[in-house]
Amino acid sequence: MSGIPAQQLVGTRQHWASFFDEPRPLMADLILDEAGDEALNHYYGDRWRRPAHTPDAIEAEGFYPNLGGAARWIYFLAAPLRDAGGKIIAVIETVQDITERKQVEATLEAKVAARTEQLATDIAQREQAELELLKRYAELTELNCQLHDAQEQLVQSERLASIGQLAAGVAHEINNPIGYVLSNITSLRGYLGDIYRLFDAFEALEGDRPANDPALLAVRQLKQAVDFDFLKEDLPALLRESEEGASRVRKIVADLKDFSHADQAQEWVWANLVNGIESTLNVVNNEIKYKAEVVRNFTELPSIECHPSQLNQVFMNLLVNAAHAITAPGTITITTAQPDPEHVQISISDTGCGMTEDVRARIFEPFFTTKPVGKGTGLGLSLSYGIIQQHRGQIDIDSTPGQGTTFRITLPIRQQAPDTPPAA
Ligand SMILES: Nc1ncnc2c1ncn2[C@@H]1O[C@H](COP(=O)(O)OP(=O)(O)O)[C@@H](O)[C@H]1O
Ligand SMILES: [Mg+2]
Repeated sequence: MSGIPAQQLVGTRQHWASFFDEPRPLMADLILDEAGDEALNHYYGDRWRRPAHTPDAIEAEGFYPNLGGAARWIYFLAAPLRDAGGKIIAVIETVQDITERKQVEATLEAKVAARTEQLATDIAQREQAELELLKRYAELTELNCQLHDAQEQLVQSERLASIGQLAAGVAHEINNPIGYVLSNITSLRGYLGDIYRLFDAFEALEGDRPANDPALLAVRQLKQAVDFDFLKEDLPALLRESEEGASRVRKIVADLKDFSHADQAQEWVWANLVNGIESTLNVVNNEIKYKAEVVRNFTELPSIECHPSQLNQVFMNLLVNAAHAITAPGTITITTAQPDPEHVQISISDTGCGMTEDVRARIFEPFFTTKPVGKGTGLGLSLSYGIIQQHRGQIDIDSTPGQGTTFRITLPIRQQAPDTPPAA
């Protein structure tokens, strides 16, 4: 195997020459010299060990690039022979060519490595695919949500638009009659005053008549029959109520007209919303002051292109609603913000009763109200919705029953009317 003829080695201590260029002890020599682990480590590094079955033997494997003209893997096993006293008298060392086994092992290892790598790639690909799938799923869910929102908004604006048209028609028809009803009531009140004065004059005349005058008796009887005293008292009250009712109708008609944007001729102007909020607060102060403390969280806002009086109407509706929602003393917080360079945001929060999901779903419907007759018309929010839409803005709501509500309005700073192309 080593390429050195046996007769050159047998009986000599030149065995090292088979494996190494320079003289050095072999495994058998080390056992014979009873060298310790340190010497073994020195010559064999970490490639040697003591076999479990014969602890005083030593085995090792080594690679020799040129052994008898070929590269070989060699397995050495050396074991001592002892006399009766346990003294080492000789060492048997076997040398075995394990090149073929090593080659098979190496091929096997390479195969295992290749398979492991393939598996790792497979797993990575599968994980990637799974991630992709999850991402797609999230995107789909998001898309679905958006679709749902868009559909809801579409239904909402469709409904509001058709009701708007109807409202404009109805408002137009009612406007005239309610106008003359109100003006007639005013005339009636005047006439009634005159008639009362006449009655008083007649009653003064009665005093001049003899008590048994049959005409006087007849008049007294008639007065009693028609319950004249009650009539005199009740008439002005009836008139007052009629006038109040007619005024309310006129107010609703005006709201309806606003709601349907019957008078669209308004110009867009640049205005600062904080000023608008302040003046609106002055107007509704009476509704708020006994119920809520107003907290102003104002930051500097740029002026925006808008219809200021309409936006004030929105603020008024929101502030009055907030005050209505509060029963025990509470707080209304008004916050301004600029979420991005193109938009401004106004939030109005209250510590009031909040809304259930069912109520929340319907608040923008015209005439939807949870308030008693006379306090709510159910038009405030549908009106506000229309105004904000016209400004290309958005209303968001957070509400928790028993805790409060926040209305958040986001408005673009700049309007771009559809019929005016952007300036070049
Ligand atoms: N800040 C709020 N807190 C609780 N509920 C509210 C609030 N704002 C509006 N709502 C609910 O929305 C309904 C509709 O409001 P709106 O359109 O202004 O009509 P109205 O105030 O005349 O009832 C109210 O009746 C109420 O139920
Ligand atoms: Mg309202």
